[in-house]
Amino acid sequence: MILMKDITRDGNPVLRKVAQPLTFPLSDHYRQLADEMMEYLINSQDPKIAKKHQLRAGVGLAAPQVGESVQMASLLVPNEKNEIIFKETFVNPEILSESVRQACLSEGEGCLSVDKIIDGYVPRPDKLKIHYYTVDGEEKTIRLKDYPAIVASHEIEHLRGHLFYDRINKQDPFKLDEDTVVIY
Ligand code: NI
Repeated sequence: MILMKDITRDGNPVLRKVAQPLTFPLSDHYRQLADEMMEYLINSQDPKIAKKHQLRAGVGLAAPQVGESVQMASLLVPNEKNEIIFKETFVNPEILSESVRQACLSEGEGCLSVDKIIDGYVPRPDKLKIHYYTVDGEEKTIRLKDYPAIVASHEIEHLRGHLFYDRINKQDPFKLDEDTVVIY
């Protein structure tokens, strides 16, 4: 199972590389990687298991965060009642279109690969249209909005070598456009 010691941390060049697309059918190695990434997220959101293995809670994990520079990322997004509202592993995801209107989380963002807290709003498109393949090679096009869109954007950017704080306004970390949706 993936543990915190397996997570690559900011400063590791793999996090700044553009990840390679995968080809289908996926090898057993990458199928297993997908299973393990999702398992990490499930375990990390279970207080008992997380405590036992000292896992930091996560809602998304991208392959470069476990040292694999390939285009695969798992998402497990709960709502405020801890019900899962989005669960998927993206392979070769592409953003087809995005809203002009931005959204951000009121508490900013964190990342399993970034140990320190970095304050500031992280504006991202409020709505995304995403094309991706499932682990089984099924082609999908979906639309996401608000929190799941933010998580998807964060994870897809990991595959492009970007980290969340790249999007924070350097001069004024809490500056927002007037019409930015703040999600609480
Ligand atoms: Ni991250």
